[in-house]
Amino acid sequence: MKINAKWVTFPGEASAAAFTFKKSFKTNKIIKKATATASALGIYALYIDGARVGKGVLTPGWTSYNNRIQYQTYDITDLLKDGSSIELGLGQGWAAGYIGHVNTNHCYTDKASVIGQIEVVYEDGTKETIATDETWDVYTSRVLSSEIYHGETVDLTAPIKCIGKAQASAVKGKLIPQVGEWITEQERLAPVELIKAPNGETVIDFGQNMTGYVEIKIKAPKGSRIVFDGAEVLDKDGNFYNKNYRTAKNLMTYVTSGNDDIFKPTYSFQGFRYIRLIEFPFDTVDLSCFTAVAVNSELRRTGRFNCGNAKINQLYHNIIWGQKSNYLDVPTDCPQRDERLGWTGDAQVFCRTGAINFDVEKFFEKWLGDMALEQRADGAVFGTVPDCMPTHPTRISAAWGDAATIVPWQMYLAYGNKKNLKKSFPMMKKWVEYMHKTGHEEYLWLTARHYGDWLAMDAGGDSYVGATSNDLIGSAFFAYSTELVIKAGEILGENVDYYKELYKNVVKRFREYFMENGLPKDIDFPFTELRDGRVSTSGAADVVRKGMTQTAIVLILHFGLCTEEERPGLIAKLAELIDRYDGLMTTGFVGTPYILHALSDNGRADLAYKLLFEERNPSWLYSVTHGATTMWEHWNSLKEDGSFWSTSMNSFNHYAYGAVYDWIFGVAAGIKPVEEAPAYKKVAIAPIPCKELGFIDASIESRNGYVRSAWYYKDDVVYYEIEIPAGVTATFTLPSGKTYELAGGNYHFAE
Ligand code: BGC
Repeated sequence: MKINAKWVTFPGEASAAAFTFKKSFKTNKIIKKATATASALGIYALYIDGARVGKGVLTPGWTSYNNRIQYQTYDITDLLKDGSSIELGLGQGWAAGYIGHVNTNHCYTDKASVIGQIEVVYEDGTKETIATDETWDVYTSRVLSSEIYHGETVDLTAPIKCIGKAQASAVKGKLIPQVGEWITEQERLAPVELIKAPNGETVIDFGQNMTGYVEIKIKAPKGSRIVFDGAEVLDKDGNFYNKNYRTAKNLMTYVTSGNDDIFKPTYSFQGFRYIRLIEFPFDTVDLSCFTAVAVNSELRRTGRFNCGNAKINQLYHNIIWGQKSNYLDVPTDCPQRDERLGWTGDAQVFCRTGAINFDVEKFFEKWLGDMALEQRADGAVFGTVPDCMPTHPTRISAAWGDAATIVPWQMYLAYGNKKNLKKSFPMMKKWVEYMHKTGHEEYLWLTARHYGDWLAMDAGGDSYVGATSNDLIGSAFFAYSTELVIKAGEILGENVDYYKELYKNVVKRFREYFMENGLPKDIDFPFTELRDGRVSTSGAADVVRKGMTQTAIVLILHFGLCTEEERPGLIAKLAELIDRYDGLMTTGFVGTPYILHALSDNGRADLAYKLLFEERNPSWLYSVTHGATTMWEHWNSLKEDGSFWSTSMNSFNHYAYGAVYDWIFGVAAGIKPVEEAPAYKKVAIAPIPCKELGFIDASIESRNGYVRSAWYYKDDVVYYEIEIPAGVTATFTLPSGKTYELAGGNYHFAE
């Protein structure tokens, strides 16, 4: 649709309040079709004659606003009367409110703007357009303030007054039709408990950590106040705890009209499991007034899983809710504190799992499009997309920027969309070239500031950064990203000779610099000087340097930076390092997603399972046994003694470690897409059963149909049930190595 409307803003100063832009119009002829189109640099809500239109919330979503802004289109044929009014509510949202914890506030604009039009086609063939311009009236609204981080104030007694005409505004970003998915209201959860906390506070528990908001239905005397904030956890005394939200207030303030009221925010959302009633009009709290509404990107569920271990099933549940909570238009790190940002590292770590659980093709098509637009001319990819922290001291980091190669590649494996791969290909190449050019020493990526093996345990449990040398991580990912460019290029029919040569050299230099006798060098790597003479530092400069760590070996094995002959030595060393750490992992964001793969690919599925079943800290089941309903940011966000990790970095809804599901699905259940025929057109099924797990039943509703792998133990025999959709071929491999070529159908095996 061609948009003839003008971008407009409200008269007067910048404000955290929401405003309503209104136009009344008459349609005197019979309407054949009427379509509304709207967008905002901010968040808009469309109303026709006072009724909200469309299923979307938090529209137009979050893109790289300086480059492009999505618009949504609505069929309103049945909504228009002879005389109707169109209203566009406008709140600050991501564009004009506080966003990004480093530079905070007004990342894109001081004042929100809105744009919209209605196009009416009459039965007689004539057309009419009603479009935003300076003739529209602007009214105050009942939303007196709204911030993504800080919550919303709605006063139903507030007078509504016209404050003048809309003013034309200049908006840089290009309008584009919606690329991503709608953000919608999804599950509705009733409270599970009303808690009178030991400190006297009134707390409501919804039983599930989530992203969205609380809807309140209430009739109370006019002017009554309902004020509450959110929390993910209670402290060890059972009191409401939300210090980990940092500066994000998450405060909802509602003032009643005296009639039957329904409250929920229009321009904000929270991450929460509990709410604390700070003000409430009645002494008795009627729980039936409260409903927690999950708000997430509307993604089709594709994956299903069940197994014989209740704790692993809970882990899976936590992974699903971690994904739902953080796939809200942008893949975010967390939904509650003053971040909620599209951290690239977290996104790449989890995206393979994300694409098993849900259909995320469009979701990532949008995000990767923004990433490509924000990629710097020298190829740098920033830590967050959309980029809203230009002053962050570590803007570019290995394993974060590599989202530029890893995400497009994983999306290709999951959905087989060559067009999308092709769109990302220039970005993939540029990122590799960035590493090549900034590496300090050719073919290595040395001396840069990185996030390192974020939150790993081997530099001391309280360090933000693990012990693995950043130079080693940077150079390993340089090799891996180069390999992905080669694979993608070959699929796209591009000449990749240059990258093949580059890859050979990067691997060669990696091995010379970081390895000896087939193992990582067991030394502390010195900090080399940056080109400008400064010494490279990161958050924990004094600890980020070791060559011999679990993460280092995991990267070498998983990225294939070793020879085949070196694998047994490496895997033995990895097992030894695990053993040395009392049988536990020490890996963080970088090593954890691959550690189980590195073990099972090299003959140690037994040890992989042992780590999976582990319940001590650090482990996946530690959080499960401590009552988690989503994934935690730290292995021990809640410590053994009941205290919390530091308040500055302690989310209970961080999906990154949930990446373990790609091992459970791909190795334990054994379902993997294959590169030659992606999107599960051809599948490699090679389950690795485990008696302690009892049974597994995993499936995916792929683009090529329903693929299922299940196994169960009966005495010492394992029975397998495999389902392959028509038109798909599969290679099925039993643990004994026996292989079968399968076509569409249901199969049973026993061994
Ligand atoms: C985020 C992480 C992110 C990191 C960068 C944090 O504040 O929450 O998940 O990847 O910064 O190291």
